Amino acid sequence: MTELAVNLPGLQLKNPIMPASGCFGFGREYSDFYDLHQLGAVMMKAATGTLRFGNKTPRVAETSGGMLNAIGLQNPGVDKIIETEVPFLAKHQVPIIANVAGSTIEEYEKVAEAFNHTKSVHALELNISCPNVKEGGIQFGTDPEMAANVTRIVKEASNLPVYVKLSPNVSDIVSMAKAVEEAGADGLSMINTLSGMQIHLPSKRPLLANKTGGLSGPAIKPVAIRMIYEVKQHVSIPIIGMGGITTIDDVIEFLLAGASAVAVGTANFQNPFICPELIEQLPSALKKYGFTSVEEAIGKGHQA
Ligand SMILES: Cc1cc2nc3c(=O)[nH]c(=O)nc-3n(C[C@H](O)[C@H](O)[C@H](O)COP(=O)(O)O)c2cc1C
Repeated sequence: MTELAVNLPGLQLKNPIMPASGCFGFGREYSDFYDLHQLGAVMMKAATGTLRFGNKTPRVAETSGGMLNAIGLQNPGVDKIIETEVPFLAKHQVPIIANVAGSTIEEYEKVAEAFNHTKSVHALELNISCPNVKEGGIQFGTDPEMAANVTRIVKEASNLPVYVKLSPNVSDIVSMAKAVEEAGADGLSMINTLSGMQIHLPSKRPLLANKTGGLSGPAIKPVAIRMIYEVKQHVSIPIIGMGGITTIDDVIEFLLAGASAVAVGTANFQNPFICPELIEQLPSALKKYGFTSVEEAIGKGHQA
């Protein structure tokens, strides 16, 4: 028997595969396709302090090997999410990871605090990759000191384990990871999207209304693997890995690089059954590469 279970802070996962934030909404549409109980966990769409309509359209574009998005954190606001979406997901008895976003430290604190009042959320994913923040306009996700500060404040506001979601738009990912680990992060989630742009030839202007967007999908997988591999060597907290996963071999590659679990994002748009399909394929893939459990494969790519 191949053992698929993985225990992470706050999360007893029956398998290590979950949908990534923003690519699964709150699970409602996907629950028409399959039983969400099969999933290792669900990473919910970002929650902000109040309702956000997001950016103007067009806000998604297809690229070779991926997509660009500039959704702009559209969500109904944390209170509504707790009132309607969390109870819906809880019915499926699947671990729930809430994605915490904001434009200011105070907003992050408010959102994190709000999730204390529901017993159904198991962990927070702290999204520090939001642009246009009030404090000096620097992204929380690209400055180690700001990242550490928001991590510390969210840890104080919350009684849930906090997985900090790192942005790949930095030259030194290790210093970001170390800063948030020292600030008390229980785990890391990586990577978020890479900043990109597409020009629309007929109009000769940027295609996205926001001009820039986040690149995701298979095109970013080597970047994710490299960053997870580097970070794994310098931190002792677990990593939930993501970025371009479409096949079971991709899942194995993330485990070898050092991820303890993985999230699948963009691939859900192409194949809504991708998560259950990968879960089904995992035991034979582990066996094929000589492993009897997921735990055994984690970080094995680091052997001399
Ligand atoms: C349309 C879309 C919306 C996203 N929304 C969020 C979000 O709300 N919060 C977040 O932390 N990441 C968000 N992401 C990033 C994904 O969770 C994931 O980190 C990234 O897309 C890389 O994985 P992938 O290549 O498998 O999509 C979003 C990605 C896409 C494509």
